[in-house]
Amino acid sequence: MNICITGSLGLIGSAAAQHFLDAGHTVIGIDNNQRMKLFGKQGDISESKSSLQKQQHFIHYPADITSQTALESIFRKHRFDAVIHCAGQPSHDKATSMIAKDFRINAYGTLLLLQNTQKLASDATFIFTSTNKVYGDNPNQVPMVEMEQRFEYADKTYRGIAESTSVDQTLHSFFGSSKLAADTYTQEFGRYLGLRTTTLRLGCVTGPHHASVKLHGFLSFLVKSLVHKQAYEIIGYKGKQVRDQIHALDVASAFAAILKKPKTGEVYNLGGGSNNAASILELIELIEKRLGTKTKISYTAIPRKGDHICYITDLTKFRHDFSNWKLSYSLADIVDELLDHELQKN
Ligand SMILES: NC(=O)c1ccc[n+]([C@@H]2O[C@H](COP(=O)([O-])OP(=O)(O)OC[C@H]3O[C@@H](n4cnc5c(N)ncnc54)[C@H](O)[C@@H]3O)[C@@H](O)[C@H]2O)c1
Repeated sequence: MNICITGSLGLIGSAAAQHFLDAGHTVIGIDNNQRMKLFGKQGDISESKSSLQKQQHFIHYPADITSQTALESIFRKHRFDAVIHCAGQPSHDKATSMIAKDFRINAYGTLLLLQNTQKLASDATFIFTSTNKVYGDNPNQVPMVEMEQRFEYADKTYRGIAESTSVDQTLHSFFGSSKLAADTYTQEFGRYLGLRTTTLRLGCVTGPHHASVKLHGFLSFLVKSLVHKQAYEIIGYKGKQVRDQIHALDVASAFAAILKKPKTGEVYNLGGGSNNAASILELIELIEKRLGTKTKISYTAIPRKGDHICYITDLTKFRHDFSNWKLSYSLADIVDELLDHELQKN
């Protein structure tokens, strides 16, 4: 297959590119290293570029997804069987300081990709990497109890946040809003125009190739801070906020499952689920135990606007429709891999 991956040098895009190259496909990557422009040197992803570019079946375009001219020329040069859209402005906090630019990348860029797919690759499967921020802070309405180290759902049988959660009348952040626009446009190109589109609403995705920064890439940034003994700041909820973590390669294998059984206008939540969930306090304890060292942790009481208190993905719908897909990385595997990678760099 000829697979177009946007954001092909970022965390998820580069994992997907490697996954499909290993499976013998040709990958046409589009990434202009916008991450470095957004986050500075720490966000530079040229390392992924050099490792992917060594591979025969990887073709790279340093193009901007908000340029119709650039996109049309790429879509006219290749016959795509799939378009996996991972390019994006990924940070809530950053979006607030550049609202129009965030909209241009996340919403308008997605619209251009959908239109080019519709016009020039209408048989292709289109996958969009959306976010759980489309639910805004509605997940905070689920009854919770405060434990010593984490918040927990009050109902022990509750499976987590499902696709039926409302995306309306809630505090999204501007990032959540631009992604929600892209998310519903992706659904509409499926439901209204018949394109084979799937939207994946992702939670916390991680992996050793994350060019993490304070504003994006929580777990990788936490590991880097603790390995290098750089003071780490917990923001809000006493550090008891819970996230489920999924490895970028498990997201890549979810893409592969969708390509085998394409859907039209479908939406799924995808994350690490309850077994891969932990609070910041629990993660700090786990990492410090592994390292045998302590790092200075500071605390700011006011939480980030709209931040989730506890977000655990309900994987029921995805697992039902793609029963061969499995999470291959446990939380312990993820943390160990991040630690090994960072320690090797020392
Ligand atoms: N990582 C997560 O935890 C997470 C969670 C939910 C949703 N997502 C979504 O998944 C997608 C991928 O996330 P990621 O973690 O790999 O982010 P990332 O920042 O590592 O990768 C995104 C890539 O897109 C590229 N890019 C940005 N704007 C571009 C443009 N205008 N033209 C071409 N390339 C551009 C960047 O250079 C970067 O390499 C994003 O859209 C993000 O919103 C990620």
